[in-house]
Amino acid sequence: MNNNNDHIFVIFGASGDLTKRKLLPAIYNLYLYDQLPEKFAVVGTARSKMTDDEFRNIIIKAIKQYENVNDENKLADFSKLLFYIPADTEQNSSLLNVKKKLEEVRKNKGIGSNTIFYLSTPPSLYYVIPELISDAGMNQETDGWKRLIIEKPFGYDLESAQKLNEGLMKNWNEEQIYRIDHYLGKETVQNILVTRFSNGIFEPLWNRNYIHRVEITSAEDIGVEKRGGYYDSSGALRDMVQNHLLQLAGLIAMEPPASLEAMEIRSEILKVFRALKPINENDVSKFAIRGQYLSSVVKGKSVPGYRDEENINPDSKTETYAALRFYIDNWRWGGVPFYIRTGKRLPTRVTEAVIHFKPTPHFLFTQESSIESCNQLILRIQPDEGILLKFGMKVPGSGFKVQNVNMDFHYTDLNNQRVAPAYERLIFDTMSGDKTLFAAANEVMATWKFLKPVIDAWEKDKSIPVYGYPAGTWGPENADELILEKGMTWRYPCKNLTNDGIYCEL
Ligand code: BG6
Repeated sequence: MNNNNDHIFVIFGASGDLTKRKLLPAIYNLYLYDQLPEKFAVVGTARSKMTDDEFRNIIIKAIKQYENVNDENKLADFSKLLFYIPADTEQNSSLLNVKKKLEEVRKNKGIGSNTIFYLSTPPSLYYVIPELISDAGMNQETDGWKRLIIEKPFGYDLESAQKLNEGLMKNWNEEQIYRIDHYLGKETVQNILVTRFSNGIFEPLWNRNYIHRVEITSAEDIGVEKRGGYYDSSGALRDMVQNHLLQLAGLIAMEPPASLEAMEIRSEILKVFRALKPINENDVSKFAIRGQYLSSVVKGKSVPGYRDEENINPDSKTETYAALRFYIDNWRWGGVPFYIRTGKRLPTRVTEAVIHFKPTPHFLFTQESSIESCNQLILRIQPDEGILLKFGMKVPGSGFKVQNVNMDFHYTDLNNQRVAPAYERLIFDTMSGDKTLFAAANEVMATWKFLKPVIDAWEKDKSIPVYGYPAGTWGPENADELILEKGMTWRYPCKNLTNDGIYCEL
C-alpha cells in the first residue's frame, strides 16, 4: 500500500464483539497478506480499563478463536501494532486522553496525522463520538486525511437518519464518511456488477420485456443470539431490508454506470432507490408481511421462541421475518415485481437473488413442472457462492419432453484464489480512500423514505398481524400471498432437511 496511506486506525468500542470477531481478524489478515501501509497502528478505546498488553492478549485470543493461525510469531508481531486507551464518551473531555495517546503512538512509530475512526459502538453513540472527535480537533484535515466509518444502522427511521446526518455534517464532510454495509464487501455481491456488465448476453434481456420477476432471499438459521437488546428495537426490516437487501436490489436493477468511479456507481444505485414505487400506508398489508419465530424443535433440539429469548420484551411485536413486494418505476423495470424476504430461525443460512425470466411466447413441448421453473438465473451470495442458470433440455428418448437442467459455477472451483471476507475488503478500501462500496447519505435517506409507510403502519396499525412461524420453517405461509401469480411460490432452495443439516442446492 502506498505511503500516503500510512495512518492510525482508531476503534471506538474496542472491547466489543464486532472488534474481536470481525474488525481485528480482518486487519490481521491484511497484515498477513502484506496489505497494510508501512507505518500503521491500531488504537482501541472503550470504557473498560486496560493496558496495551492486556488489550493485545485479548485480541490474540480472539484471533486464534476466529482465524486459522499457522504462525504464532507473526500473530505476536502483529499484536505489537495494537494499543489501547480507556475513554468514557459520556465525559466531554474524555477524548483528550485519546488524542494524547494518538500523539504518543504517532511519535513513537513515525506515523503522520492520517486517521481512520471506526465507530463499533451502540448506535446512540453515533451522534456523540463524531462530535467529541471534532471538539478535540481530531477531524481537521490540515495535515492529513481523517475518515469516519459508521456501522449500520444509520438511523432508526427517516427522521432520525436525517437528524444524524445533519449532526455529522456540522463538523465532517460527506467525503470523510464511510457508511459500512458489509454486504457490499462480499465478493459475490460485487460480482453482480461483473456478471451484468462484462457479459453481452445478459444485459439485452435484463429488463421488463424478458424478466418476469426478481426474488431476493436472505435466510438465517440462527435466532437473535445475544443481541436481543439491539434487535428488539430494530427488527428484520431495519436490520436487513433497509440496508443489505435493498442494496442488492440496487445492484441488480441499476443502469450501467459510465465508469467504475465510486460516484458513478453510487449515483446509478441512488436512481434506483429514488424510483422505488411508494407504498401507500393504507395498503401496507398488500405489500409487506411480518412474522416472528415461535419455539419449536429444530434438528432434534428445542429452540426458544423469539419472545422467550434473552433481553426481549415478552409482548414484543418486533418482526424476525419480513417479506415485501415492490416495484421500480422506470423504463427498465416498470411493472416487474421485486420480492424480498429475510428472516431469523429459517431452515438454513442462504442469501441469493433469483432472476425469473418470462416463459417463451408459445411453449411447444411437454413439461412436467410449471412455467415458473423455466429460465432462472440464480446469483448465490452465500453459502456455496456461485451462479447458476436453469434452462430446459430435451429428456432423451422419444417425443419432446423437457426437463430443467443447471449450468453452474461455484466459487470453490477457483481453488487457488482466496476470497477476502467482507470486512477485510471494506477496511482495505477505507484505508485506500475508495468509497465505491459504501452507501452515500442520499441512498440511505432514499431507502428509509421508501420504507417509511411500512415502518409507520407496522408501528401504528394494531390490526396488521405479526404472524407466528415455528422456528426452523420458511416463515409465515401468508408471505405466499404477496406473490401475485397463481401457482407461483417463493423459491425454496433447500430441500433435504435431515438431522445432520440441510442440503441446499444452488
Ligand atoms: C447484520 C445483521 O448486519 O447482518 C445481523 O445485523 C445479521 O442480524 C447479519 O445476522 C447477516 O450477515 P451475514 O454476512 O451473515 O449474512
